[in-house]
Amino acid sequence: MKFFIDTANIDEIRELAVTGLLDGVTTNPSLIAKTGRPLFEVLAEICGAIEGPVSAEVTATNDEAMIAEGRKLAAIAENIVVKVPLTWDGLKACRALRARGTLVNVTLCFAPAQAILAAKAGASFISPFIGRLDDISQDGMQLIRDIVQIYRQYPHTIETDVLVASVRHPLHVVEAAKLGADVTTLPPKVLRQMISHPLTDKGLAAFLDDWGKTGQTILKPKVAE
Ligand code: E4P
Repeated sequence: MKFFIDTANIDEIRELAVTGLLDGVTTNPSLIAKTGRPLFEVLAEICGAIEGPVSAEVTATNDEAMIAEGRKLAAIAENIVVKVPLTWDGLKACRALRARGTLVNVTLCFAPAQAILAAKAGASFISPFIGRLDDISQDGMQLIRDIVQIYRQYPHTIETDVLVASVRHPLHVVEAAKLGADVTTLPPKVLRQMISHPLTDKGLAAFLDDWGKTGQTILKPKVAE
């Protein structure tokens, strides 16, 4: 499963990119607003820091304006993926942008029927928002289960990757991986939480303590000049 990072904060992206674990970035208008910085400047920096796909969302609501915005966003860098909402205009824009060779992420997906439409429109990625469904007492992970199952029925015609979005905690990532989702986009906090386990910390402390008592070193100690 690929890992995208769900933030527009360039410092966080750079900090986490050094792990070598990031395959891409997703942004949305709210995440851009949170930076308090100009959209094009932020996106250019992110595209320079990450080789993989970087989702940049349109803010127009009619298809013609979405296509124009999408073309402008796509011109920022080769790794831009234009993000459009799951509306009729968004799907029309998706088809038009895909016809020009631009990668498109169809976002704000909350139902399997919507995901079928996005695939028909040629979406490169579909973004089902699981956390927001959980928030209203619906089963977000069931949406992923349904979409993965549907898309798998058409391996030769559907080329849309399932990009699990609105992730709230590491269990979401584990469950999405068990279902075979193609990508998960993680808030930086969730990525950091994934490595934590108290027994890892306790075990490492005990190993180092016991090793210290042997007085040995694996590398030769540096000789002071
Ligand atoms: C990603 O593409 C989405 O914009 C994001 O995951 C939404 O997450 P939220 O529900 O935490 O805002």
